[in-house]
Amino acid sequence: MLDRQPAVAHSRPAPSLRAEGITSGYGGVPVIRDVSIAVGPEEIVAVIGPNGAGKSTLLKSLIGILRVTQGRVLLGDQDVTNHPPEELARRGVGYVPQVNDIFEPLTVLENLEMGGYLLAPARIRHRVEEVGQVFPALPPMFKRRADKLSGGERKMLAIARVLMLDPKVLILDEPTANLSPKLADALLSEDVKRLAGAGKAVLLVEQRARAALQIATWTSVLVSGATRLEGPPRDLLQRADFEELFLGAAPGRSAAQQDEEENEKK
Ligand SMILES: Nc1ncnc2c1ncn2[C@@H]1O[C@H](COP(=O)(O)OP(=O)(O)O)[C@@H](O)[C@H]1O
Ligand SMILES: [Mg+2]
Repeated sequence: MLDRQPAVAHSRPAPSLRAEGITSGYGGVPVIRDVSIAVGPEEIVAVIGPNGAGKSTLLKSLIGILRVTQGRVLLGDQDVTNHPPEELARRGVGYVPQVNDIFEPLTVLENLEMGGYLLAPARIRHRVEEVGQVFPALPPMFKRRADKLSGGERKMLAIARVLMLDPKVLILDEPTANLSPKLADALLSEDVKRLAGAGKAVLLVEQRARAALQIATWTSVLVSGATRLEGPPRDLLQRADFEELFLGAAPGRSAAQQDEEENEKK
């Protein structure tokens, strides 16, 4: 992993999507405060942090599901703060939520077609073919109902559905949450890496801190709604106080221990 770090550790591409000091929450109560994050082509930016830190809140604020009350969200150099999610989708930001990520009563194919809802019918057919090439396991399952899929197949479909619009930016909220360690590892180290390698800007929320650090090009640690620290994963891992920062987040357990425990539950 460390070998893959760029020679200039902090050199990053121009951001495709970024948040500058955003504050947002629920019912007027801020959950995240003054959070900044950026992701550019070929990057995998991992947001890690304990349960309830505000990771999902951050993602929802970026794509217009939650109202940003301070700061701004920029797509390229354009201000898209509080623009509706459909607009963000149309402008190349794909979002795979943590739950409710597919339409269960529909077939796999119908889910993909729904994902292409902004496209002309001929284009939808074309994209179904292309997305089927990205995830070759999907076409043989086209006629299956989505609620009959395994956890891994389901997450693959959820990502594929979002790929229908060929997003520049892919936002994934805990894609490995219900997967076995083996499947989680495959999804991150193969699929997610491949998508970033193909030029997409990937913003990933993960509770499996160690697994996320292995594929991330940049990491941000969110604790209690604020960025506790950020940097290349190598820098984070080398910090003497890295474990302590995580211990502060979840008393008595290191990030590695949390990850182990997560894995044992599967
Ligand atoms: N719909 C909601 N209404 C009110 N509070 C919420 C809602 N969703 C999440 N929260 C609160 O916001 C905080 C951050 O939640 P969340 O962003 O889901 O954290 P994470 O994704 O890091 O686990 C938590 O304290 C949670 O209880
Ligand atoms: Mg969450």
